[in-house]
Amino acid sequence: MKLTLKVWRQKNGSTPGELKTYPADHVSPDMSFLEMLDEVNQALIMQGEDPIAFDHDCREGICGMCSLMINGVAHGPKEAITTCQLHMRSFKDGETITIEPWRAKPFPIIKDLVVDRESFDRIIQAGGFISASTGSAPDGNAIPVAKPDADKSMDAAACIGCGACAAACPNGSAMLFTAAKVAHLGHLPQGQAERHQRVVNMVATQDAEGFGNCTNIGECAAVCPKEISLDTIAMLNRDLVIAALKGIEPVVK
Ligand code: SF4
Ligand code: FES
Repeated sequence: MKLTLKVWRQKNGSTPGELKTYPADHVSPDMSFLEMLDEVNQALIMQGEDPIAFDHDCREGICGMCSLMINGVAHGPKEAITTCQLHMRSFKDGETITIEPWRAKPFPIIKDLVVDRESFDRIIQAGGFISASTGSAPDGNAIPVAKPDADKSMDAAACIGCGACAAACPNGSAMLFTAAKVAHLGHLPQGQAERHQRVVNMVATQDAEGFGNCTNIGECAAVCPKEISLDTIAMLNRDLVIAALKGIEPVVK
């Protein structure tokens, strides 16, 4: 396959960026999207040019690092996969592909296609944990959890923190990410002690980080590689109402 890439190049967060055009002339349909970028970078290095900076780690859909906007869609044209799981056979020979970083104010650009997603870490730090002692693994497994609750918790725990939801949302809302963490712990007995303080703290932190409000557009769930359900946002909102009725205020460091 021969492709034309339009890639966002930006030296750092304080300099303006632009889309630059690169040929990708030796692309196998069986390459992953990141392998295709590796090939392009190899050619740039051989020409003495600066390779394109992009994030990646596991390359198997687990770590959530490969945050790319491909032809305007977070993680590209295939549903329910990450960029690293996307293969070049999803594109046509001769196609022009536009590759940009996540676009959300709380994800500042570090370089080219790499953004800083520490804002997500701070949301987790505000409440994405439990304080109950769960003992060793066998002790944890000895705590009875109803199958429907365990299933809902596991589904929510599939969130890999990639940030596609916030990048795709017209409001730049991180609600699906936060809701996944809230639902993951809120469906388990171990997560009940801090349940309402957790939701108040995490929502206050996402607001403070500059993420927008959720208006139920649903673009987040459409691009989520782990198919996190909008039901998690409904659960978060229910917990938030109960917290308000209890008069719980955010405690955020
Ligand atoms: S909810 Fe989905 S899109 Fe958002 S961070 Fe988690 S895995 Fe990524
Ligand atoms: S590189 Fe880890 S999910 Fe894509």
